[in-house]
Amino acid sequence: MVNFRKAALTDLESIIAIEKKIFGSGSYPAFVVRQLFDVSGHYFIVAEEDNQILGYALGAVNTKQKQAWVLSLGVSEKARGRGLGKQLTEQLIEVLKTEDLKEIALTVFPENKAAIKIYKDLGFEGSPVLNNYFLDNEARIVMTLAVN
Ligand SMILES: CC(C)(COP(=O)(O)OP(=O)(O)OC[C@H]1O[C@@H](n2cnc3c(N)ncnc32)[C@H](O)[C@@H]1OP(=O)(O)O)[C@@H](O)C(=O)NCCC(=O)NCCS
Repeated sequence: MVNFRKAALTDLESIIAIEKKIFGSGSYPAFVVRQLFDVSGHYFIVAEEDNQILGYALGAVNTKQKQAWVLSLGVSEKARGRGLGKQLTEQLIEVLKTEDLKEIALTVFPENKAAIKIYKDLGFEGSPVLNNYFLDNEARIVMTLAVN
């Protein structure tokens, strides 16, 4: 049975391994994952089964702007198609919504159909495609979910 829970420091090695495998040269370096854990650990959810981390979702909150971000979402290839990505995102949204927020935002590649399906199903709406959003000459869509 898959258990969704807050990430612990001892999960970071597995999270970093998944992040590297999935995102390759575009992955967050280990030190960034560690620092995001230190800053945003409260909004860091993992999916675990048989003592194995299968996926994670990480958020961050800008309290002044009343805006939260989904910073990363990843599920091991072997565990995909079981609804984990959607459930991780849902669980993260629930935690983020405990803050006083106007919206939750995220960025996604325009061709990332699986991720966009999850976000749309959960109520996110997309903006037009933004070129060079991360100064890497690639396009991204910013999607937002209004929170009341
Ligand atoms: C995106 C990702 C997290 C999805 O994880 P997952 O656990 O397989 O996702 P789920 O099983 O919850 O659901 C995926 C949904 O997308 C659908 N889907 C999968 N591939 C699809 C495709 N090519 N086109 C359209 N829909 C697709 C699935 O049918 C499912 O829809 P459903 O809920 O109606 O059945 C995973 O593929 C991943 O880690 N990708 C690499 C990292 C990434 O892209 N992260 C998001 C960055 S914004």
